[in-house]
Amino acid sequence: MKYKIQTSSLNLHYGSFHALKDVFIRIRPRMITAIIGPSGCGKSTLLRCFNRMNERTAGVQIRGHILLDGQDISQTGNDLTQLRKRVGMVFQRPNPFPLSVFDNVAYGLRVHAMKKGAAVGKAVEAALRATDLWDAMKDNLHRSALELSAEQQQRLCISRLVAVEPEVLLMDEPCSALDPIATEHVEELMRVLAEKYTIIIVTHNMQQAARVSQETGFMLLGELVEFGQTERVFTNPADKRTEDYVTGRYG
Ligand SMILES: Nc1ncnc2c1ncn2[C@@H]1O[C@H](COP(=O)(O)OP(=O)(O)OP(=O)(O)O)[C@@H](O)[C@H]1O
Ligand SMILES: [Mg+2]
Repeated sequence: MKYKIQTSSLNLHYGSFHALKDVFIRIRPRMITAIIGPSGCGKSTLLRCFNRMNERTAGVQIRGHILLDGQDISQTGNDLTQLRKRVGMVFQRPNPFPLSVFDNVAYGLRVHAMKKGAAVGKAVEAALRATDLWDAMKDNLHRSALELSAEQQQRLCISRLVAVEPEVLLMDEPCSALDPIATEHVEELMRVLAEKYTIIIVTHNMQQAARVSQETGFMLLGELVEFGQTERVFTNPADKRTEDYVTGRYG
């Protein structure tokens, strides 16, 4: 399968407000795709479509198709647990559960009844290693996740997703609550994770998009104005609106 996710004529209305306008996007597997654009252009809305997180918002109307590995995700029916296991999401503010470090990471394994007994411990260790948290946490697995630093909490939230072996990681401004050093660490982690997962990151920070992604989409007023190789989008945009944005004329 050439594309991990693709949409066709995706339109979303919040009541009478047209938030996504005929979006066609093609997300390639195992690399990082960035979605950029000024505040309110629909980045988070688009990201939330990929694991059907908008549907419960009152007054939302969605038309068009979203394919995951070629299959329309609306056909996953009402059981969204399976879809969200395949397509996990990391938010702007780290949101660990008020549980221990261990129980945060084991949470999904238990919900999906994926592992039992000693296998849970092994999977938790592997997920913490994947985000480079294991050494810092191995003697503190039972402390509350809420006591960790913001960076550790964000890594923990990523561990929690990785534990259930997802395919796609959606990241909505995952570094906006982090300082520059922690941001650099999380970007490095993203590069490592992209060897295995398809990552889509929404970011306000154009430098971050340029640093971490291979492909970039630029959105404006609900439209995907431009999409392509990151370097090309930043250095030789096809659309005047993209050029104005990446050269800092607005946003
Ligand atoms: N639940 C909602 N009900 C009504 N309108 C909404 C809702 N959520 C978002 N919107 C509107 O849809 C538009 C797109 O919002 P969205 O949050 O996707 O933008 P964004 O690009 O992620 O912005 P930001 O960079 O500020 O996070 C905005 O105009 C917003 O006000
Ligand atoms: Mg947003």
